Amino acid sequence: MTDRDADEGREAGDYRPGLEGVIAAETRLSRIDGEAGELVIGGFPVPELAANATFEETLYLLWNDRLPTGPELDSLRERLRRNRRLPAETLAVVREVADRGDPAMDALRAAVASANVGREGGEDPERDAIRATAIVPTAAAAYWRYRRGETPVAPREDLGHAANYLYALTGEEPTDAAVRGLETYLNCVVDHGLNASTFVARSVVSTESDLLSAVTAGVGALKGPLHGGAPGPVLDMLRVVHDSGDPETWVRDRLDSGERLMGFGHRVYRVRDPRASVLSAAAERFYEGEEDRGFFETAVAFEDVARELLAEHRPDHRLDTNVEFYTAVLLAGVGVPRDLFTATFAVGRVGGWTAHCMEQLENNRIVRPRARYVGSEGRTWTPLGER
Ligand code: COA
Repeated sequence: MTDRDADEGREAGDYRPGLEGVIAAETRLSRIDGEAGELVIGGFPVPELAANATFEETLYLLWNDRLPTGPELDSLRERLRRNRRLPAETLAVVREVADRGDPAMDALRAAVASANVGREGGEDPERDAIRATAIVPTAAAAYWRYRRGETPVAPREDLGHAANYLYALTGEEPTDAAVRGLETYLNCVVDHGLNASTFVARSVVSTESDLLSAVTAGVGALKGPLHGGAPGPVLDMLRVVHDSGDPETWVRDRLDSGERLMGFGHRVYRVRDPRASVLSAAAERFYEGEEDRGFFETAVAFEDVARELLAEHRPDHRLDTNVEFYTAVLLAGVGVPRDLFTATFAVGRVGGWTAHCMEQLENNRIVRPRARYVGSEGRTWTPLGER
């Protein structure tokens, strides 16, 4: 125990529950301006990145702080392809989780935790980043197919990362529109400052543990409903309103009974989340050619009503659309099952977790905040028989 540990909690200090507002790292990966509603990823405003990048280009950008040349991109694609398959032991655990009907995130956690079983060992952050990123979609899709009593399909060597994920879900080659929709989503959620799962991942590698351990911890943090769980309930809500055709009554009833509207409000953004704007445009493009275009129109009508009624409901606290609202609309459209929404968030965010881990290691200092002690002092031991 060091002298500094011995002092733990005796100083008043500046305690912020949930570390709100505390700057705990420096990063070049993303910048959020909650007042202006801006998100910059790898130096690009999110609308610019989402409109142009394939997911592999975004990964390269975050891992290397620049866009790849053609050969560099080909090489990254190839390395991801080579790492897509799950070891047999991992597949068996994924199957067990699916057969028991446990959440997809449990399957992902087990998959990442066992990703180096039977593979060459040694410490190599970049190799682990590629391995983790490559297997997350494979594990999510395998889980889904086992849940439905099907067997996983072998990865298609000719398909990119996002396309192969959709293919692995259904066994059918996805349309270009679906791939583009999913890529836009993955680019939007790849990184978002020091959110809970990213902070956890950075903390794990700061002990000089390995990246697979860090990503395993990140998956665990993302599983929590306060972090990655809102799009499922958003989809349920929109389906009900799509059937009733009356968003106003639905929203009023919820707000009158003191419930929160899923897909609205944000800890950091005080205006419409910039990712909501990108995703609503992407969803509009996607649904244009679809039979269920009416579902997108329901979402737009719902959003208009919700923003208006939330402003009436809380004139003192601006509540606007967050990323999860159009995530639900877009992911459902491109064919991601509701039960895989959080796992699909991980398909994107694993790029950010791994990039943050490598950034942490560049100039590492072990993450070790302090706690203020609020427990008892000076107790006298009572022997067991006298308690
Ligand atoms: N619907 C209705 N009221 C909401 C609301 C929502 N979506 N979000 C916040 N509020 C209200 C709260 O009830 C609270 O009211 P109170 O002061 O009377 O208690 C007030 O606004 C401030 O809420 P608070 O929890 O302090 O805001 P926050 O900025 O810390 O919360 C969220 C951020 C995301 C947790 C919150 O907006 C929320 O729960 N949204 C719904 C879930 C969701 O979409 N999550 C995904 C986030 S990306």
